[in-house]
Amino acid sequence: MPKEETVNLALRRGLFYPAADVYANAPGGFWDFGPEGSKIRRNIIQLWRSELVEKEGFVEIHGAQILPEDVFKASGHLENFNDPIVQCRKCNSLNRADKLIADKIDDIVPESLATPELDKMIEEHKIECPKCKARDFNEVKKFNMMMRVDIGATGDQPCYLRPETCQSIFLDFKRLYQLHRGDLPLGISQAGASFRNEISPRNTLLRAREFGQMETEIFFNPDKIDEVPQWGEVKDYKINLMLLGKKAKGISCEEVAKKKIVSGKLVAYYIARVQQLYEKYNIPVEKMRFRELDKDEKAFYAKETWDFEVETDLGWIELMACNYRTDYDLAGHSKISKKDLMVNEGGKKFTPHVFELSAGIARTFYVALDLAFRKEKRGGEERIFLDFPARVSPYLVAVFPLVKKDGLFEKARELFEELNESSFSVFFDEKGSIGKRYARVDEIGVPYAVTFDYDSMNDKTVTLRDRNSMNQKRVKVKELSEILWKLSTQKLSFKDIK
Ligand code: GLY
Repeated sequence: MPKEETVNLALRRGLFYPAADVYANAPGGFWDFGPEGSKIRRNIIQLWRSELVEKEGFVEIHGAQILPEDVFKASGHLENFNDPIVQCRKCNSLNRADKLIADKIDDIVPESLATPELDKMIEEHKIECPKCKARDFNEVKKFNMMMRVDIGATGDQPCYLRPETCQSIFLDFKRLYQLHRGDLPLGISQAGASFRNEISPRNTLLRAREFGQMETEIFFNPDKIDEVPQWGEVKDYKINLMLLGKKAKGISCEEVAKKKIVSGKLVAYYIARVQQLYEKYNIPVEKMRFRELDKDEKAFYAKETWDFEVETDLGWIELMACNYRTDYDLAGHSKISKKDLMVNEGGKKFTPHVFELSAGIARTFYVALDLAFRKEKRGGEERIFLDFPARVSPYLVAVFPLVKKDGLFEKARELFEELNESSFSVFFDEKGSIGKRYARVDEIGVPYAVTFDYDSMNDKTVTLRDRNSMNQKRVKVKELSEILWKLSTQKLSFKDIK
């Protein structure tokens, strides 16, 4: 189970909750994000967009979620995108065979193992049905996870909800390559929803049937996999790699490239950028690793995969797959569509190769929330706060009038509007005691709060409070915007405010 307190907080504050739960028969694995939850979710995407899309010079698209059957014939999903399932003969419940075995032996069981091997493991490890405890299963079967939708009045145009956002990126590649003046490498990104008919959705946001992805496909000339103009920026930076059968270890990008631990500099460079992005979500580097997958664990389209994982109380959670997909996808689409998706560079015609960075939005949300959760005792009282970085928290600052009367409400409201017009994300609350208002914003991770009190009327200063330390400073109203901007961009720390 997910760390209960994190989930309790999310449900109590409406950060996320099961979709359609007014209906008892709503299927599991679908989640809604409430007002503050959707702000945090948007900020998670925005941080990715700013750090890993815009700074890298990638372009971003918004593709359709429903695509025709041929797309998934070409991508291999109709044939290969299967989970192994097993049914209990006694109570008929269905389960993922690999997960049942993995839970019992506390080790990874590749979902791609052949079904007779899984049958053998179920027998060998005396696996029981989690529901009725019987040890009597049908043979393991492969179950395709694609969700089909029939388009048109006659329903004769079979289509599917996309199981990964990147297929539109492959389909759009040639068009965008031409728009991009025919230059490689070309990174194309997309953030959006994907759909997989999971047999046993579980652990709230971690295994859902509809989920957000932030994906980038970097198209490059395979002969130039070692040509990375920004290499100097990462060459001494250490990435936590967990090679097959080894413990995770920080290795500099330069050493990774020299020892040919990855296919080329381009792979090491983007792995470094991923680690740097997640540092900005406040994930400590020592809790991160890129785990090399062996051939049974890799997806059918990947030649090389590094799963980016973060350690939580639930164990190591995969947040991003870094896949070297070669020319698998473009070649597949070219074959089925009969369109030429090759490029011409320096007189040589070839199909570009692809390195993919495929992150889960909700998984990043869950892990950032779990690792930001703090509970502490202050003056005999317990308090909970979320230690989110300013770029992730739902608001940068809350504005409170100390009381509603004597003109304080109106003045505080003016200040709120001013800050709001300066493009800060601001929350206003006038209800309840000031202590309760602080506690409420602490729980959703707002880093700063400003209180307009009686002194503010005379001396034009306000109290600025820091979420983590609970320290307070008096600052001039006319300097507040600049101070907040410096705090939010880490050009100033709270203790250094004069
Ligand atoms: N595009 C890779 C994935 O969805 O896992």
